[in-house]
Amino acid sequence: MCGIVGVLGTHQVAPQLLNALACLEYRGYDSAGAATITDGRIERRRAVGKLVNLSDLLVHEPLEGMAGIGHTRWATHGGATVENAHPHMSDSVALVHNGIIENYAELREELRAEGRVFASETDTEVVMHLVARSLEQGKDPQAAVQQTLSRLRGAFALLFLFRDHPDLLIAARRGSPLALGFGEGEMYVGSDAIALAPMTDRVCYLEEGDWAVVTRAGATIFDTDGMPVERPVKTVAKTAQVDKAGYKHFMAKEIAEQPAVIGTTLDRYLDAEGRIHLPANGLDFARIDRISMVACGTASYACQVAKYWFEQLARLPVDVDIASEFRYREPPFVANTTALFVSQSGETADTLAALRYCAEQGLQIASLTNVPESSIARESDVALPIEAGVEIGVASTKAFTCQLTALFIMALKAAQVRGTLTPAQIADHLVQLRQLPGLINATLSLSDRIEDVSRKLAEARDVLFLGRGALYPLALEGALKLKEISYIHAEGYASGELKHGPIALIDRKVPVVVLAPTDPLFDKTVSNMQEVLAREGKVILITDAAGAKRAGEGAAHVITLPEIPPALAPILYAIPAQLLAYHTAVAKGTDVDQPRNLAKSVTVE
Ligand code: F6R
Repeated sequence: MCGIVGVLGTHQVAPQLLNALACLEYRGYDSAGAATITDGRIERRRAVGKLVNLSDLLVHEPLEGMAGIGHTRWATHGGATVENAHPHMSDSVALVHNGIIENYAELREELRAEGRVFASETDTEVVMHLVARSLEQGKDPQAAVQQTLSRLRGAFALLFLFRDHPDLLIAARRGSPLALGFGEGEMYVGSDAIALAPMTDRVCYLEEGDWAVVTRAGATIFDTDGMPVERPVKTVAKTAQVDKAGYKHFMAKEIAEQPAVIGTTLDRYLDAEGRIHLPANGLDFARIDRISMVACGTASYACQVAKYWFEQLARLPVDVDIASEFRYREPPFVANTTALFVSQSGETADTLAALRYCAEQGLQIASLTNVPESSIARESDVALPIEAGVEIGVASTKAFTCQLTALFIMALKAAQVRGTLTPAQIADHLVQLRQLPGLINATLSLSDRIEDVSRKLAEARDVLFLGRGALYPLALEGALKLKEISYIHAEGYASGELKHGPIALIDRKVPVVVLAPTDPLFDKTVSNMQEVLAREGKVILITDAAGAKRAGEGAAHVITLPEIPPALAPILYAIPAQLLAYHTAVAKGTDVDQPRNLAKSVTVE
């Protein structure tokens, strides 16, 4: 949430700031702003809404200078207005901020009592006043920032620019990620390596509690106690594929990439002989008696699917929690529990806090992320990558199916080690897994058919999704996808739960998407579908050819997918759910890649 960038350049930095902000816009798009030092003054431009509004403003009112900071905002305290847009500044200091200052109200009272006037409703502005006050008291920038940091509570990343020090940026990380970038006579700061990618691939990640004094010659990093520390500078892969490769939206591109990235994920964990490779320091399933999986949103639905796999295939009990509840519930653990955190970004604040709780309890910490350098990956004992490649669309698609793929492989490994499946059964599953990219390809070719159905769906006010077994979490995921990008109210239910309440919602205006591969629960799901039809509900049945033949009658629309072994159906059935949401959103004309009120990386709780 919120993207931060800073540049100490050798040329005009405004274009670099804009390029980096373009890579960070997925973190929030309520407003954008930038500040530079020019002619001994701090100059600032801010605009509400997307980055393009700031770019337009800069055409008419350019920002000059070779040192600057920029920000793209996801509003927390205070609405999306120019006044609340970052940078916040006084004559002497400007800053950008990601996260929340929890004690801002008491600090603001203290500062107001001294006669300081606030120009915004943000929590950020107290930080600006604290630093400005210290500078006025004669402190140098480093001392002013250090003193200010000691007053702040919360989780944040901060970046400061000082009028009288055009060769200086000070960055601080507590809870929200920050990276330093090294160029030729230039230095950069960004929320992540993606932001820095247009400028450099030499990156150093700040650790929790670090703060850094950055000049064009390099950076000195201090830990929470103010002691200088060394952090490694790494060469990172140039991953910022910020182009849509001819697709209308990033989401469309990312949906289409799934056969390829699932193939890469398979290659990561399976060798040519069909052996499963998890990291050597990894998970010893012979010694694990329970897995506690924790995640948010789509990632938590991946965990819910995995629960079926681990329990059915490996007879290994799994608890699944959403991180925002788990972190404050103080759950007790049975012996030999491993905690597994699933997160595309690896930076989700609630998931990270839950991880730290489990680490304090002495649990083995495993994680599955799409960003190997993320905080969650770095703080794990066992960090497993999902190999989805950069995901820009705010609605997660390819990361979800890659999470599922990796989780399925882990469940198979557990079954192998625990002896709950025979070698022949494991081999069968692995052969089927290798067919997955091809089956997904075939399913993607149904896009036009799904687009037709979506035009109808776009007229609905409410939509229900039903599924049974491992398809139940898929129903939750299908509903989440639809609501977040098309703004249509949608809910997912376990098919069998319908009659316990939600069936009251059914009438001829409520489309019901039924996810029903011909698995052992098919007939039961179809019975629930009949209950919907009996109440004039409009059914969109997603099934295979055999299912269409057995149950297609009465459905308003049938989408027929390739046959797939039941265990893998949740991965394949994610594709039509994604396409339905995508085409419905396009039909409604919403902002598919940047839906309202959302951000890709949720680094506030
Ligand atoms: C929905 C979506 C979110 C994320 C959630 C967790 O499409 O993307 O629900 O899944 O915010 O994010 P990560 O996986 O980065 O922890």
